[in-house]
Amino acid sequence: MENLPFKLANPDLFRPEGFVHGQWKTASSGERFDVEDPGTGECILSCTDFGRSDVDAVVQSSAEAFETFRKENPRSRGRKLLEWDRLIRENRDDIALVLTYESGKPLAEAQGELDYALGFTWWFAGEAERIRGNISTPSLPSRRVMVIKQPIGVCVTLVPWNFPIAMILRKVAAALAAGCTVVAKPSPETPLTCLILANLAVQAGFAPGVFNVVTTSLAHTPEVAEALCKHPLTKKVSFTGSTPIGSLIARHCSEGLKKVTLELGGNCPFVVFNDCNQQQAADELLKLKWRHAGQACVTANRVYVQSGIYEEFLERIAAGTKQLRLGHGTRADTTIGPLTTSRSVTKTQSHVDDAVAHGGKVVVGGQRGQGGGFFYEPTIIRDANSSMLLSKEETFGPILAVFPFDTEDEAVRLANDTSMGLASYFFTKDIDRTWRLMENLEAGMIGLNTGNSSAAESPFGGMKLSGYGKESGKDVAVEEYLVSKTCTLTVEGQF
Ligand code: SIN
Repeated sequence: MENLPFKLANPDLFRPEGFVHGQWKTASSGERFDVEDPGTGECILSCTDFGRSDVDAVVQSSAEAFETFRKENPRSRGRKLLEWDRLIRENRDDIALVLTYESGKPLAEAQGELDYALGFTWWFAGEAERIRGNISTPSLPSRRVMVIKQPIGVCVTLVPWNFPIAMILRKVAAALAAGCTVVAKPSPETPLTCLILANLAVQAGFAPGVFNVVTTSLAHTPEVAEALCKHPLTKKVSFTGSTPIGSLIARHCSEGLKKVTLELGGNCPFVVFNDCNQQQAADELLKLKWRHAGQACVTANRVYVQSGIYEEFLERIAAGTKQLRLGHGTRADTTIGPLTTSRSVTKTQSHVDDAVAHGGKVVVGGQRGQGGGFFYEPTIIRDANSSMLLSKEETFGPILAVFPFDTEDEAVRLANDTSMGLASYFFTKDIDRTWRLMENLEAGMIGLNTGNSSAAESPFGGMKLSGYGKESGKDVAVEEYLVSKTCTLTVEGQF
């Protein structure tokens, strides 16, 4: 690899090819696609572009590896996960640098994503040995029932570009802990960190074929994803991305009745009551909202602030936002980076224009940033209302829209007024209200006086059109990669 815009301490970490059966593999068509630096809009390198016809060989490799890996002792799987964790830590500066170049996020955030993501390798190393079936005594005499758990088989993981390391480790570490093999298809914007992780997995002792990677362009993504989902040897698909694509993936998987986990869109409400600790709420909101420039499904898309503190709260968050420095992720003074795609800049601008047309006022930002990259200024819009696009759609960009409200009932009605149900956040010091909101908000994850409920040890996943199935957390995540068998035994003789 020549003329890369960055220099790695370990230049052997990846090649811009697929990774199949422990080898770098070029697509049969010879086609390649560009991976861009969102901070400049320029091509970093070109990567091999797998098409539909390449998929069968990759899934066959994973199926072959599964025949051995499924029988591997759980402690051995856990040890390899820990070694993988160690190798990722050892190469963390290189990996963070590559992540910054492919996603645009500032280096400090890239390191933060690695810390978050390494929670998954660590956690699932422990989970491998804690997979349990059960034994029960049924009502019929002389019988005993045993439920055993086994790995489901070859799993396909389709991951987005916003947290390409965390999403891979959350899915793949759970699958490997369960004894499954994996074919990962990273997003065309961010294939490089996924290739590094697969390469390090082999170095950690996972056999060739246990973790394969298929890189593909935006143009070939639909056919490759469809072929992976419909392949008869694929037994489970885990997808993180938008709701329309998640619904398409579910349709692909329905033919073969494949097990599916869908982590889909957000449009999350963040509700701030008069009686909260305002500084705490403002700090948590700014961390949550500006994390990767608003490009997170769990970000606060609609911020509802009670009328008694509306103006004061707005001043606090405006002051905090004005401190941000927009720039290339590798610059030491950058605190917010570019958007990962130019499409996101266009969408953000359209949400700002629409909000202004519907009575919103721009308090901070509101414009594209300078330079050749995909920059958009962190933007606060006040007097937001339900007629605006940003209240109905997930923006996935740096807009913080602040809506006023008066009563708790109104806040709950507004917060739930969405087809999505991924995360909700609220800030109050009233314990009765806390309990009511926990029960009344329609979301798979609820932050109570916090803007962050993502952690390896907590189940992650939504309800409504935000999808189904859980990732991370105790038992539930690994369960997604297992099948249960009920074994009934007749015991002769007297007990
Ligand atoms: C996402 O919002 O896309 C995932 C973020 C997380 O895991 O916290």
